[in-house]
Formats: sequence, structure tokens, C-alpha cells
Amino acid sequence: MLTRGGEPSLDAASPVEGALVELAPAKINLTLAVERRRADGFHDLASLVAFASIGDELSLRPSSELSLEVSGPFAQDSGAPEGNLVLKAAKALARRLPGLKLGKFSLTKNIPAAAGLGGGSADAAAALRLLAKLNGLSPQIDVVQDVACETGSDVPVCLASVCRIMRGRGEILGPRLTMPSLSGVLVNPRVQLETARVFATLAKLHGTGVSLPFKEPARACTAAAWLAAIERCGNDLEAAAISLAPTVRDAAMRLRAQTGCALARLTGSGPTVFGLFADEKHAALAAENIGKAEPGWWVRSVRLHG
Ligand code: C5P
Repeated sequence: MLTRGGEPSLDAASPVEGALVELAPAKINLTLAVERRRADGFHDLASLVAFASIGDELSLRPSSELSLEVSGPFAQDSGAPEGNLVLKAAKALARRLPGLKLGKFSLTKNIPAAAGLGGGSADAAAALRLLAKLNGLSPQIDVVQDVACETGSDVPVCLASVCRIMRGRGEILGPRLTMPSLSGVLVNPRVQLETARVFATLAKLHGTGVSLPFKEPARACTAAAWLAAIERCGNDLEAAAISLAPTVRDAAMRLRAQTGCALARLTGSGPTVFGLFADEKHAALAAENIGKAEPGWWVRSVRLHG
């Protein structure tokens, strides 16, 4: 029987007989301010994060053996299963909870890896939700949260996959925000960008503390008010990403040229850029146009959930 659990509930996942299934939605940094470089070399961020209606899919079939098989259009990009964050998270949880029931994970990589979409982190968070479910635990308990932090900077925010502000390296999470659902387009120009190089380039370009902090619109505000609040801010890593991979600017320009595009911006350290649109119809049309003009790029229209 197919069991599906946890937030968010997204579009249909293909059933895997006898397995628990979770979707691992793509993470979008709607704003990203780099506040300061810390003594440990990492940077403290303040980022408004939301999640898309598409993502990878992870299933877990209970077994005494822990394993991972990876398939799907971006399986090659995600490296060897032994280095995958799904196994890293599962092993870390098993170390802290002796007797934890484990199993065989099967991951379908639907979205590009190392793309600024938090794919590996979302997969690890989905693994923790699945193990919590299999063992009758809440994913909110401290041990699961601690393992999420230990596994990677973006894993904690991906655990609940709801719209909120994330700070520090990602370990400080604000309350869920009531953002209305927004229409977006994701464009990945299929170039390589290493996160560490983007942060290193930032120091050479303009340093930290450039973009304005995000200010949440009043409760029950319209999509237009949210778009305006997001627009005022920026992604401090964008200039660095463009200097390393100028195609990122081309992708943003393509989005900005589409009818109904309110803004286009880098997510995370790139190379994926997202556009926010007035409505779903304009977003779908923009994705179709860009996909036709740049057949080598990965382009999807999505909904961003609050
Ligand atoms: O989080 P991730 O392992 O992808 O980070 C890769 C590199 O990017 C880090 O080793 C660090 O150099 C840089 N980084 C940073 N501040 C962050 C996240 C990443 O300086 N908040």
C-alpha cells in the first residue's frame, strides 16, 4: 500500500509497492542577504525561503539493511549514492537512536543537483521524515532537528518545507509565514557553479550586508503586496554568481523579458534563477517561450507555496 505523509502534499508521486513515499520539494530563496562572514569561514544569512510544487521523490521500503538507489533524469548529476545526503542523514539518526528501523531508499532525481534548489538537502529532509514516520516519531523532535543541522545548512528548513525566514547557516528558523501561493518559473542554464567559489567571489566583489532585509507584509496580504516586498530585497550572491557564470545573467534577462514577469532573481548560490509572475497563465507561457528559445536549459513553471 502506498502511504504518503508530511508537508507539503504535492502532485502525484508514482506508487512504490509496500513503501512510504515523500516528495522533496525544490527550495527557493526568494530573498538572500549575506549578513557577515563568521570566524568559522561560513556566512550568516537572512533568507526568505519558499518551496515549489515540484521536487525529487523519495521512497523507503522497510528492511534491516540501509541502502539507496538513485534514478531519474538527474541521477547522474547527484554523484555516487555512498556520498548522498540521504544516507548521511539516515546514518546520523541511526547513531543517535540505537534500534532505529531503517530500510531501502529509492530516490528519483527530478530536479537538477547543485543548482541552488536545495535538492540534496530536500532529499535528506525527506529521508528524515520517512524514518520518523517508520519509527512513529515526530520530525519536530530535537534529535531529528539536530541531525538535520548536522547534515547540511539547508536541511533544517527543508524538514517542514514551509515558507519562513532562515538565518545563521540555516539553523535558525522563523515562524511559518502566510505567503499567498505565487506563480513562478525556474530556469537552470545548466552551467556548473560551486557554492564555495560563489561565497569566495562575494568577498572580492562587494562583501556582505548589501541587500535590504525582508519585511513581511501585513497578515492576509495579497500576492501583489508580497511581490513588492520580495522585489525590494535581493540575493547578495547574484553578482558573484554572474561573474563566475555570465549565462546566469542571460537566464535572468530571458525571464525579465517575458510578459507578466514581476522579478527575476538567483536562488541560493545558483545557477538556477526564478521568475515570479502575475499569474499561472503568464508563468506557463514564459516557461514555454524560454524552453523553446533555449532547448539546452532546464525550465519549469511552478507554484510556490506559503
Ligand atoms: O553548505 P555547503 O556545504 O553547500 O557550503 C559549501 C561552502 O560554501 C562552504 O564550505 C562555505 O565555504 C560556503 N558557505 C558559506 N556560508 C554559508 C554556506 C556556505 O560561506 N552559509
